[in-house]
Amino acid sequence: MKVLFSAIAAATLLMAGPAHAVDAAAAKALAQKSGCLACHSVDAKVLGPAYKDVAAKYKGDKTAEGKLIAKVKAGGSGVWGNIPMPANSPQVKDEDIKTIVEWVLSL
Ligand code: HEC
Repeated sequence: MKVLFSAIAAATLLMAGPAHAVDAAAAKALAQKSGCLACHSVDAKVLGPAYKDVAAKYKGDKTAEGKLIAKVKAGGSGVWGNIPMPANSPQVKDEDIKTIVEWVLSL
């Protein structure tokens, strides 16, 4: 039992590294598919702020994820300028918005 347990733990550890990188790639692909990258890019302001700037602005803010998920769903303006972000819900699934926001905050 103990041996089996260690084998599982080792396998999980082995998967953890590459799986994380794939997550970022998958999240970016999801952002592309969901239309976010029409107005955003990772490094540069397009219509909306660069995702790296968003991550920097909310660094250390534990409430950021919830706030940003709500903002992306409903849309809105005034934080980065006067250009509004249109609502992305319901056309983008809640779980996809969560995944993309987590990725944005990790940049
Ligand atoms: C039509 C253009 C457009 C699309 C499509 C769009 N955004 Fe935005 N986004 C904006 C603009 C403009 C702002 C700045 C809003 C503001 O100043 O409050 C923004 C702001 C944001 C912010 C920061 C919000 C804040 O209050 O700091 C996040 C995070 C974000 N967008 C994520 C997304 C995600 C995820 C998607 C796709 C599901 C998406 N955006 C699709 C234009 C867009």
